[in-house]
Amino acid sequence: MKFKKKLLAGLAVVALLVGGLAGCGKQSADNSVKRIKDKGTLTIGTSADFAPFEFPVMRNGKKVIMGYDIMVARKIAQSMGVKLKVQNIEFPSLISELQNHKVDLVLAGMTKTKKRENAVDFSKPYYTESEKILVKKSDANKFNTKADTKGANLGAQQSSTQETLGKSETDAHIVTESLTTGLTTDLKAGKLDGVILATTVAEQYVKKYPNDYALAKYNMKVPNSLKYLNIAIPKNEPALKKQINKEITHLQKTGQLDKMFKKAQQQQEKYGK
Ligand code: ARG
Repeated sequence: MKFKKKLLAGLAVVALLVGGLAGCGKQSADNSVKRIKDKGTLTIGTSADFAPFEFPVMRNGKKVIMGYDIMVARKIAQSMGVKLKVQNIEFPSLISELQNHKVDLVLAGMTKTKKRENAVDFSKPYYTESEKILVKKSDANKFNTKADTKGANLGAQQSSTQETLGKSETDAHIVTESLTTGLTTDLKAGKLDGVILATTVAEQYVKKYPNDYALAKYNMKVPNSLKYLNIAIPKNEPALKKQINKEITHLQKTGQLDKMFKKAQQQQEKYGK
């Protein structure tokens, strides 16, 4: 009996040791930061249809992507001493491109959701959002309550949290497209009655085109689980996640996140389409 106990205790120690070693192995296998430093480039994926987070600008006949996410990404790249490369990918494909390591990170005004957490990891939040319905100026008083949305055709980006919210927080028929810019064009053309967008994105349209658009008065309830925007990181890359969280904390504490957001809004008003 005594012997059996000792044997069990011994086995437990061995198990702990093996477990510990396996843990170490995993740590050293995470060369995420080193890999990026060796490459000399941090490649991010974004969907440039979401001003002020990301939007295209023509510079000397060339299309460049600007915005809050790009500014944050540039700071992260600088913190690692590498260059930044921005890849424009339609929003619904971003997660799989990250899973396939076509990009190192995704910064796309992306909300951390339970479902996405099955596929990728997320940084700490770097923005808090709410949602609005963008309408034509002449329809400014069309949607004041949830009931007012009954029978309407509302647009939402495919695979976005706006699509999820549209289905639960409105009584409308939700029309999805892969690009938000397609939805707003359809709104202007009268093919849609409204587009569900992050508040700051919807406001950007109203600011830039005050004669065309307005915000509907109806306020959709957004659960806490859909309020935070985070950077998406491949799974099992704790070193990269730590590096990013450290930089976000620094940018937050020094007030740079707020400053960059305001700057991105101004740049879009000035140079964006
Ligand atoms: N926050 C929403 C989501 O994560 C929408 C993000 C859309 N981003 C974009 N770049 N189009 O689903």
